[in-house]
Amino acid sequence: MNDINAAEMADYRQLVGEIRGHAHRYFVLDEPSIPDAEYDRLMRRLQSIEERYPQLIDATSPSQRVGGEPLSEFTQLRHEVPMLSLDNAFDAESLSDFGRRVTERLNQSADVAYLCEPKLDGVAVSVLYREGVLVRAATRGDGFVGEDITANAKTIHSIPLRLHGVSVPELLEVRGEIYLPRDGFARLNATAIERGEKTFVNPRNAAAGSLRQLDCAVTAKRPLEMCAYGVGQLDGERQPDTQLGMLQYLGELGFLINPHIFLAADLIQCEAYYADLAVRRNTLAYDIDGIVYKVNAFELQRRLGFVTRSPRWAIARKFPAEEEITRLLAVEFQVGRTGAVTPVARLEPVFVGGVTVSNATLHNADEIARLDIRVGDSVIVRRAGDVIPKIVKVVFEKRLTDAVPIRFPASCPVCNSPVEQTLDEAIARCTGGLFCPAQVKQAIKHFASRRALDIDGLGDRLVEQLVDAKCIHSVVDLYTLELATLTPLERVGAKSASNLLVAIEKSKNTTLAKFLYALGIREVGEGSALLLANSFGSLEAIADASGDELLDVEGIGPIMARHIRDFFTNPDARSIMRALQEKGVRWADIDLNASVQTPLRAQTWVLTGSLQEMSRAEAKEVLLGLGAKVSSSVSVQTSHVVAGPGAGSKLRQAETLAIPIMDEQQFIAFLDAYNDA
Ligand code: IVH
Repeated sequence: MNDINAAEMADYRQLVGEIRGHAHRYFVLDEPSIPDAEYDRLMRRLQSIEERYPQLIDATSPSQRVGGEPLSEFTQLRHEVPMLSLDNAFDAESLSDFGRRVTERLNQSADVAYLCEPKLDGVAVSVLYREGVLVRAATRGDGFVGEDITANAKTIHSIPLRLHGVSVPELLEVRGEIYLPRDGFARLNATAIERGEKTFVNPRNAAAGSLRQLDCAVTAKRPLEMCAYGVGQLDGERQPDTQLGMLQYLGELGFLINPHIFLAADLIQCEAYYADLAVRRNTLAYDIDGIVYKVNAFELQRRLGFVTRSPRWAIARKFPAEEEITRLLAVEFQVGRTGAVTPVARLEPVFVGGVTVSNATLHNADEIARLDIRVGDSVIVRRAGDVIPKIVKVVFEKRLTDAVPIRFPASCPVCNSPVEQTLDEAIARCTGGLFCPAQVKQAIKHFASRRALDIDGLGDRLVEQLVDAKCIHSVVDLYTLELATLTPLERVGAKSASNLLVAIEKSKNTTLAKFLYALGIREVGEGSALLLANSFGSLEAIADASGDELLDVEGIGPIMARHIRDFFTNPDARSIMRALQEKGVRWADIDLNASVQTPLRAQTWVLTGSLQEMSRAEAKEVLLGLGAKVSSSVSVQTSHVVAGPGAGSKLRQAETLAIPIMDEQQFIAFLDAYNDA
């Protein structure tokens, strides 16, 4: 063994301290102070010193997060102080009952202060430190006996291997939640899909599965975090006397403490906090399933004590569930504008994520195969915030013997034309084109939609009636509609019929970009339509452009170029365009030399929250078409922020930096000003 000299020893100690500090700022405080590459260099320096002087290595060295042979099984551990659970309150009334019980038991009329903590949805654990060194970690298990997960816990960077600060206790047992942030979960599942492996249903299952790995090298690859929320045992000089004081102390010792904790002076403030977090819930980086309220003063906690398995001084106020179980009643196949045949699940209605859900998309045949879903199955439906409901899993234990496998149709359910699936796509398409009434309806709805030719009063139901009654067969027929055709239709009065004819007349006056978008060429959204218009100037120039000429336009890739070529070389499409122009649909060509084609160049926009009238992807495309950059984070470089309902930290950041903010209506008015210019 090499002997280390004093100078090298000092250097090593300094390096360990430096790395520990950077890791804490990165993983716990979320305020990285050096680039990742620099951190990696420090780590390599540490490892090379440890290679030369292995006697230096102890269990708390930053190099020791992943180590040891895989286990053959987990050892059971008994908790010295049992890990209790919480009583739940599902509504405001049971919360006020709880509050009443607290004040009555304390025999106190003054308000009781509560610490409000987000209830993280992960795996409860206990982590034990002796003389400041992590010695073991265990899952909660049944509250009395859990599993030894020390090796796996050591791979989690927000769990300190050695406590920080000056006031290190002799013994400390910290309790907290290990969880997987949503982006880590999404990445994990994306990799699993790529490799054809099973995916996890939700971040909590993924966190539990990651902790249950016998080989800690696998756990180390999962971006798990631990948030500390309490203490089981504490022997040391410092003894905080409130829950808030305790969490602050844990923060000083190096643990990650949830930044959203809030000290409420009374239960009214608790409810206000609940309401606030319930709307912001989906803007957090991790799943929470409620709020935990804890009487803040430990003296009062002691006086309140426990009932069998839960404390009288705390309660979990739960959010409406985001996952529920229901039954798959049927699968229907819908045909979209481009012929895409999409399976739609009809479900027994179920209340989930705050709304009643009775339909969910099944995307495509691959998804049906992946879920191995059958009609009659019990399924888990997930709906988080304003996200579209999704079937995450079949409950196979509940499968009935008469459950019916789903057959993807070989012919279009609407027009009977063959359904084809190309090799490069997961999507099956009806080959009926404009002979398929379903595609015609969708094409007309799109043509008339607000952001295309904007025919006011031509709603979806009316389009369906007109096509079903064979009054119109394509968008061209809209321009030959008469009062006498419209008035006999259901729910169409004389007044609305004549208004519709005025709107149809008005739609003839349009712009090249809107017309291109209205044609519904595959992959060509509003932004690409604008790009095409501004790059080629006229419909003829676009129709005649070669594949290479299209590819020369920045923002047009090979797939879009192919669809554009396919569209304009199709004689049916050409005759529809000609007919529309003959009916009087017109626009001004663009003078390529004169116009400013990218009025928003040099601007950076951020879109946040949900938009109603256009999707975020569409809004982004339009902005790119106008020359702007679209970024996902707000900084001093940001020129504008468009904020829809549910906007959270980005909106607040924009407010702090005094960046102009628009809502969706203001944004649309802003875009229209450019589009009509
Ligand atoms: S306190 C005696 N605080 O919720 C108090 N629990 O049933 C015990 N949880 O198993 C728990 N966030 O896994 C507490 N801020 C928080 C929490 C929290 C999540 C989990 C914990 C526990 C379950 C309660």
